[in-house]
Amino acid sequence: MSEFGRTERHESSREPKEIPIQDALEGRADLESASETELAQLAEKIELMILEVDPTLKPAYRQLLQKIRCLGAQYGAQYDDTLALASEYTVRSKSTEKTLRLQLQPIANYAELGHLGIEARTVDRSKSKAYLLCITDEEKGCWINLKFFKAVLADGSEVSVVYIADRYVIPQLRGEGLGSALLQVAEGIARGNQCSAITGVLVPENPGEAQALQRGMEKAGFSVTKKETGEVIAKKMLPY
Ligand SMILES: CC(C)(COP(=O)(O)OP(=O)(O)OC[C@H]1O[C@@H](n2cnc3c(N)ncnc32)[C@H](O)[C@@H]1OP(=O)(O)O)[C@@H](O)C(=O)NCCC(=O)NCCS
Repeated sequence: MSEFGRTERHESSREPKEIPIQDALEGRADLESASETELAQLAEKIELMILEVDPTLKPAYRQLLQKIRCLGAQYGAQYDDTLALASEYTVRSKSTEKTLRLQLQPIANYAELGHLGIEARTVDRSKSKAYLLCITDEEKGCWINLKFFKAVLADGSEVSVVYIADRYVIPQLRGEGLGSALLQVAEGIARGNQCSAITGVLVPENPGEAQALQRGMEKAGFSVTKKETGEVIAKKMLPY
């Protein structure tokens, strides 16, 4: 076992069984024993549900989804000692301190480099690396999920970038600095790995919070621009 968790693959040969969302929400489903396929299917259903459920139920669905992502990440967990990453990070707010655990999972898609004007087809995959980093506290009270790209392009140039895939603080803990501390964790990882940029698409959970979200990113030093497609991109260039 590596410090990042299980290294062996746990895909079972049995037929995948459907896990009812309600059982998972109420803690009756044994998610730890579920196969990779069963977790992926459950995550897909929850992602759709999140769009429809009553806003008061969203946090419980988001927390469940993050729990599943972390369990899924364990299947592909890897340790890469060429990267400057810690297995744990601490974030502090006015009233709490949380220890976040990092899980590292290889991914194969470089699409998010497009936000920096780099087309995925120009990436030499045999020489490049991409990972999903899930960085979450035990209780799933807050997390930041990052995609880390260390890409070698067809012309031989190298680009390292951190992309913010998701950032979340449960409603009871908001407004006390945890969200900003999560951005600092992301920036620390980007700087520690000499990334030239950290970027993300801003998708507020509640559309009415788009301006507040943008202000928070700007306060953290990101520039925010709206593309013709309507996508709102936050970007911070780093001096590497
Ligand atoms: C975005 C989020 C992670 C911020 O977490 P937080 O712990 O409340 O953040 P902080 O306390 O560090 O506040 C940082 C800044 O965020 C901004 N902010 C305030 N209310 C906000 C809100 N409801 N939503 C987003 N940003 C907000 C403010 O600029 C704030 O700075 P200020 O307190 O000096 O005014 C949290 O609101 C959240 O989880 N929202 C739902 C999920 C979401 O929309 N994620 C963004 C995906 S791109």
